[in-house]
Amino acid sequence: MALTYNKKTVVSTVECYDAWSNTYDSDGNILQLLDDIVFEEIAQPLLNYIHKSNMRPICCELGCGTGRNTMKLLSSGWFVIAVDVSTCMIQKAQVRVAQLEERHKSSVDWIIHDLNGDKELSINDSSVDTVISTLVLEHIISLEQFFKTIYRILKKNNDSWAFITAMHPNMYQTGSQAGFIIDNVTGDKLCGISFDHSIQHIIEAANKTSLILIKYFEKGVDNEEHARNLGSRAKKWIGRNIHASFLFKLRKHEI
Ligand SMILES: C[S@@+](CC[C@H](N)C(=O)[O-])C[C@H]1O[C@@H](n2cnc3c(N)ncnc32)[C@H](O)[C@@H]1O
Repeated sequence: MALTYNKKTVVSTVECYDAWSNTYDSDGNILQLLDDIVFEEIAQPLLNYIHKSNMRPICCELGCGTGRNTMKLLSSGWFVIAVDVSTCMIQKAQVRVAQLEERHKSSVDWIIHDLNGDKELSINDSSVDTVISTLVLEHIISLEQFFKTIYRILKKNNDSWAFITAMHPNMYQTGSQAGFIIDNVTGDKLCGISFDHSIQHIIEAANKTSLILIKYFEKGVDNEEHARNLGSRAKKWIGRNIHASFLFKLRKHEI
């Protein structure tokens, strides 16, 4: 059932992303641009590092979407277990990955799974080296369940880590949530279901499952020039942080 208010029509998250999948990669989403920068700064050096010491490192990507990061992970030589609830988003990712050379494109398993559902994700305990989840957190009902799954599947050693990014709560609090414009004249949006998780709640929920925060960054739109570089949708966010990223590792005594 759809709910319409303030130029937003809210549908189930699956319906939203199935419909958004056609334009998700091309509609000028500034969060993706900021996300790419942090991924390059935080995740990529770690991906490069662990690869030297592990023959076949495995990354589970929760909410892989159209494969923006799946491509980066595969190109960095990782095996990827790509999980998403939207079949249409995963299909876009599969088309993208099909363009890679053979050794990379055969290094991925795809799982359609609802992280908010009752069923446990079908990945073995202590079986992956890292978990990456970008821009998914706002759709997660229970952060405790989300981080419990991450903890369960991570290998219990010093090298394991999880890189999580999120739309900053600043955006949600000014009425913004993940979705896309369906009418350019009225500005009407189709949105999925989102939750306002505070930064503190995110960190605490991770802590409860023995994941401790190693790095935290916020990014935003610094000034007019920065807004121009990010695109037309950035202007209204000048001076505000709109993106948050977290690097977690396992607490020592849990290893
Ligand atoms: C904003 S997109 C991010 C996609 C990709 N990680 C990226 O950064 O481009 C959010 C993704 O999370 C997925 N998602 C949302 N809720 C989910 C859930 N409950 N279980 C699994 N995936 C979910 C959506 O289908 C969508 O592909």
